[in-house]
Amino acid sequence: MPQNARRSRISGFHRMSQRERLEQVAAFAGLEPALVEHLANTGNLDAALADRLIENVVGTMNVPLGIATNMRIDGEDVLIPMATEESSVVAAVCNAGRQCYETGGFTTGLSGTLMIAQIQTVGVADPHAARLRILDRREEVKAVCDGCDPVLLGLGGGFRDLEVRVLDTAGGPMLITHLIVDTRDAMGANAVNSMAEALAPHIAGWTGGRVYLRILSNLADRRLARAHAVWSLDRLAVEGMTGAQVRDGIISACHFAAADPYRAATHNKGIMNGISAVVLATGNDTRAVEAGAHAYAARGGSYGSLTRFEIAADGSLGGSIELPMAVGLIGGATRLHPTAQACLKILGVTSAARLARIIAAVGLAQNFSALKALATTGIQKGHMALHAQNIAMMAGAVGGEIERVAHLLVERGTVRMDVAQGLLRDLRG
Ligand code: MEV
Repeated sequence: MPQNARRSRISGFHRMSQRERLEQVAAFAGLEPALVEHLANTGNLDAALADRLIENVVGTMNVPLGIATNMRIDGEDVLIPMATEESSVVAAVCNAGRQCYETGGFTTGLSGTLMIAQIQTVGVADPHAARLRILDRREEVKAVCDGCDPVLLGLGGGFRDLEVRVLDTAGGPMLITHLIVDTRDAMGANAVNSMAEALAPHIAGWTGGRVYLRILSNLADRRLARAHAVWSLDRLAVEGMTGAQVRDGIISACHFAAADPYRAATHNKGIMNGISAVVLATGNDTRAVEAGAHAYAARGGSYGSLTRFEIAADGSLGGSIELPMAVGLIGGATRLHPTAQACLKILGVTSAARLARIIAAVGLAQNFSALKALATTGIQKGHMALHAQNIAMMAGAVGGEIERVAHLLVERGTVRMDVAQGLLRDLRG
C-alpha cells in the first residue's frame, strides 16, 4: 500500500520493485492509471536492466533515434545514429555531409586517449619542496596506478605521466597532482578515479598535507578530437546569394562567436546539438563531454568558438573543430544498453578513438549547417516546417491532418497553437 500520499520521505523506496515505486509516485502526484501504465512500459530497455543502471527507477524516457546520412569520414561512408528530441538536428548533419561529400567529406584526428585525475592536497608547509618530492617518486606513482587496473595495463593502457602544480587559491596554496593515464577504449572515469584514491595516502605521507578531492578532470585536453572539411563555393550558393557571399557570412559568424561569449554560447550549443546526440546514442556521458567542451572553449580566459572557418587556398570554405572527447566503448551503459550496442554497430566503430573522431565531425557538420542557415535564410524557415507539425499535433491533429495543418501554418507564416486549433476546426468542418 502506498504510504502517506504527499510525503517525499518514503522509507525503503530503493528496495521496492518498479511497480511498487510507481504506486508510491502515483499516489504522491495523483497520476491517472493510464499515465502509470505509460511509465511502466520501459519499451526496448529491459526494466530489470534499467533498474541496475540507476537508482529508484520507475520507467524510461524515450527520445527519438535518427540516422544522419551522407557523412564521409576519413574516406569511409558512415551512418550516424543520433538520439535527440530537437527537430532539425539530424537534418543539419545530413545537409552538411551532402554538401562536402564530393570534396572528400571530413578528415579527423585525435591527440590521444589520455585522461587526467586530480589529487588535491592542502595544508602543506613547504608546497614547492613537496611538489618536487612527489615528482621524484614517479616510478612509485606509476606502480601504484598500474597496480589498480591490470586489465587496462594488458590492453596497452595505464599510467603515462605525472604533473604537480602549486595552485594559489582563496584558501591558500594547494598542491594539485595530475595523474595522466591512457584509458584506451574506456572513457576512463572509473580507472583514473581508482588510481587517484589509491595514491592519495601516499601523497599525504610524502607531503605532510591533507588530501581532499581525488577525481578525474572533465577538461580532457589530452584527448582532443579534431575534424576538418571543405565546402566548395558552388555547394554554398543559395537563392539570392553567391557561394562567396555565403562563405564570407559563415566566416563572419565564426568571428562573431570568437569575439563574443553571448554568441559563442549559442554557437557551441549548436555544435553540442550534434555531439551530445551521438554521445547519448552510444550510451556515453553527455555531461562529461559537454563540460569538457565548454571548459576547452574558455581555456584562453574568455569563452569562444569551438570551430574555425576560413577561406581555403582555392577560395572554398574550410572548417575545423577541436575539442576534448572523452568517450568509450566499454563503459557500463555503452556495454549494457542494447540500443547503444546497436548504434555502435551501425557506426562500425571498434575503438573509442574512431568514435571520438566521428563525433568531432558531427559537431563540425552541425555548426556548418547552423551557420549557413543563419547567414542566409535564417533558421526559422526550415525549423518552422518541423515545428509546425509538433504544433499541429499539440492542437489535436491526427493522421493526415498533421501534414495539412502544418502546411497551412507555414504558408500563413504564423506557427501558433491558436492558429493551428482554428485551422483544425475549419478542416473538420
Ligand atoms: C539551436 O538549437 C542551435 C542554433 O541556435 C545554433 C547556432 O545559433 O549556431 C541554431
